[in-house]
Amino acid sequence: MDRFLIRGGKPLRGTVPISGSKNAALPILLASILTDEKCFLENVPSLRDIQTVIRLLECIGKKVIRTEGAVEVQSQGKKLAPQVPYSLVSQMRASVLVAGPLLARWGRACFPLPGGCAIGLRPIDLHLFGFAKLGAVIRHRHGDIELTSPKLRGNRIRLPFPSVGATENILMAAVLASGTTAIENAAREPEIADLARCLKQMGADIEGAGTRRIRIRGVLSLRGFKHRTIPDRLEAGTYLLAAAITHGQVRLTRTDPGPLAGLLKKLRRVGCRIRAEKKTGLSLSAPKILRATSIHTRPYPGFPTDLQSPWMALMATARGKCRIQETIFEKRFLHAAELQRMGAKIYVRKDTATVKGVPQLTGAPIMASDIRGGAALVLAALAAKGTSSLQRVYHIDRGYEKMERKLRKLGALIKRIRQ
Ligand code: EPZ
Repeated sequence: MDRFLIRGGKPLRGTVPISGSKNAALPILLASILTDEKCFLENVPSLRDIQTVIRLLECIGKKVIRTEGAVEVQSQGKKLAPQVPYSLVSQMRASVLVAGPLLARWGRACFPLPGGCAIGLRPIDLHLFGFAKLGAVIRHRHGDIELTSPKLRGNRIRLPFPSVGATENILMAAVLASGTTAIENAAREPEIADLARCLKQMGADIEGAGTRRIRIRGVLSLRGFKHRTIPDRLEAGTYLLAAAITHGQVRLTRTDPGPLAGLLKKLRRVGCRIRAEKKTGLSLSAPKILRATSIHTRPYPGFPTDLQSPWMALMATARGKCRIQETIFEKRFLHAAELQRMGAKIYVRKDTATVKGVPQLTGAPIMASDIRGGAALVLAALAAKGTSSLQRVYHIDRGYEKMERKLRKLGALIKRIRQ
């Protein structure tokens, strides 16, 4: 298991290019199951989760060719196997997004029920609720879920909560269903709009993706696609926060400032100066003293849960006291204990953490427990006095492309120790 050695205290300066979005690429790659034609996706980050989804596609019978920054998915001219192995679902919960396309295209999907994970229980009841509304029969057997339906039928599906994964899974199932489906209280994340753009290119009839109500008129078959993934807003946000915590000055390229509006508003309150440049550039200049600023996480367009942990790292060094409320995941505060090891003053009670900024964090041996919590610890270590040794870097490798190389280019003293 690799680890990072990070010597803190150096302000980040320079330009960093933002990679394609992991959370957009994952469902789009799985949408290739909906067709036998060739599918080509550009701007795909080189990440462990992308590798996992490629293995999943290969395992059910697709041929996948990976080139620098792109993935091509081809059909091998045979029926796809509907069974997904536990080894893949246990590595990446997004593997359940295979269910909607398999069900729609082949009438059957069988996958292990994912267990809980480091950020909470994460049930899939809303995915199953949507499939049942479309006419699928659901059976639980020996830890597996089996979905069957010779032909799905469109329906009105009102989600009790705007789940990102459930919206994506139901959307991919409904595109080949007979009749019209309306997903109400749908998630509005930009990754869903990107998936819908790609599905529309395949011939799907979709309106309203990116709003609360998505209307899908089923079609008989779908074509292949050539699509370019949107920039990763969470990676972009993480580098802005890295610039802020080190009192640096960083420019992002190949990004889209639009979906970052919620974060940028908060960063301005902290005291950062932010300038959008043309359509794809964004620069941030951080003040000497950061002002403590409270946040609460919400579904998009609210403050993203995925940036809650890096925000906590930032607040650990801000002047004053603030509150961080996590409303999306029930256990997404594991990073708080590691930040405390670095001298942060954080008190967690139920879904809220109170953070009292300290003038200086200190380097320590620390351990990542999920993608974003891991990123938060990297940020804290970059700002800390002395050296930190961060274990379990594989969590970070799931979601951040070449993180240590990008940070080194910004002047950070970080190196990967391979073990
Ligand atoms: C997606 O996960 C992202 N993953 C997550 O990113 C992100 O944190 C999350 O959306 C929220 O924005 C991908 O896109 C691959 P949800 P997802 O369904 O789809 C509850 C990262 O670090 N819920 O919107 O799993 C659930 O337990 C990752 O890149 C149910 O109760 O998120 C959670 O509390 C981690 N029943 C809340 O809804 C369900 O059937 C939000 O989950 C589904 C979800």
